[in-house]
Amino acid sequence: MTTADAPTVPRDIVGEDLASLSRRLDTVFTDMSGDDLLITGGAGFLGYYLVQAPLAWNAANPERAPLRVTVHDNFLRGVPDWLSQLDDPALRIVTRSVLDPMPVDEPRFDWIIHAASVASPIYYRQYPIETMDANVNGLRLLLDHLKDRAGGDHPVRGFAFFSTSEIYGDPDPEFIPTDETYRGRVSCTGPRACYDESKRYGETLCVNFARQYDLPIGIIRPFNNYGPGLRIDDGRVLPDLARDVLNDRDVVLLSDGSATRTFCYVADAITGYYLILGGSADHPGDSFNVGTDRPEISMRELADRVTDLGRKLFDYQGEVVLATSDDPEYLTDNPNRRCPVIDKARTLLGYEPEVGIDEGLERALLWYEQQDER
Ligand SMILES: NC(=O)c1ccc[n+]([C@@H]2O[C@H](COP(=O)([O-])OP(=O)(O)OC[C@H]3O[C@@H](n4cnc5c(N)ncnc54)[C@H](O)[C@@H]3O)[C@@H](O)[C@H]2O)c1
Repeated sequence: MTTADAPTVPRDIVGEDLASLSRRLDTVFTDMSGDDLLITGGAGFLGYYLVQAPLAWNAANPERAPLRVTVHDNFLRGVPDWLSQLDDPALRIVTRSVLDPMPVDEPRFDWIIHAASVASPIYYRQYPIETMDANVNGLRLLLDHLKDRAGGDHPVRGFAFFSTSEIYGDPDPEFIPTDETYRGRVSCTGPRACYDESKRYGETLCVNFARQYDLPIGIIRPFNNYGPGLRIDDGRVLPDLARDVLNDRDVVLLSDGSATRTFCYVADAITGYYLILGGSADHPGDSFNVGTDRPEISMRELADRVTDLGRKLFDYQGEVVLATSDDPEYLTDNPNRRCPVIDKARTLLGYEPEVGIDEGLERALLWYEQQDER
């Protein structure tokens, strides 16, 4: 059999990412070894690697005490297969809304990541009250939990709140790229306000709990992540493009394609998130942009890159077409440009994205192709 005839082994995209995360987060996970970590909203996109990264590190470091992971999620969209199929004694899965009080029989968590929220614009506009509740009331319960344990014999060692780059709204052009000192230009009543404003108030809660009670609280401002774990039916831009390509139909952009973003491959972003959690005692109440600072590309360019890759990888035949959404609010308050300055996370935490846009898009498309859902 010639090399050309040899069957191609599908690339283990997730395995490669988890190996990279184990390496890049070794210092953080070594410090957390033997501890209990709670991840709220751990069934979502970012949960995919937030949950699997410490479990992979455990497996790669059997000489260390394992880091135990508990997921609390209300499973509004069901329990994803990847989570129910994880067979790991270090993992517990609990059905719980973050609006309910912390059950008394739970472990005394050493670390808490609050990722529970509705994050996709399509869904948070359908569930605006639930979105605000998770970011404000659910967060408040967790912060009270932190405060109550602060004076005891087993305080929480670190807490990270998932805010968003959307707290900047649609920045004036002179504030792009945007650093953490920018105060934002945000509507408090528009269709996206349930998300943007509840994240802003969530940050205010975090800063004041950190200051008043001396608590180890870090604030994460993610800028557009994509990659494995992001469901193809989530309604965010990259899975929408991937779905069109994998179904070999034209890619439809519901805009003129001119809005620009930087896109951060999820494995890069996850390193930033754990660095913020691990550093939350050193930087209490601090917020950090996490994303990539280049290249800033238009939606049209993103669609062209994805279709070019589709041609290379899957012999895709379609093309990009522009259309208008039936939803008149679809683009209301949608920022024109979004690009972070990530120097603060670089300097204070040693965060550095490694995966370029072409490599990241290829990894994402190969992962989608390996999934059952189209
Ligand atoms: N993915 C990104 O690019 C991005 C960008 C900015 C901010 N964020 C933030 O990061 C966090 C995680 O994002 P994601 O993309 O994984 O979101 P996601 O929507 O994929 O997952 C969120 C999870 O939270 C759960 N959830 C929602 N309300 C809950 C509640 N009341 N109680 C318990 N669980 C609840 C959902 O069931 C879901 O599993 C969110 O807070 C989001 O706002 C993400």
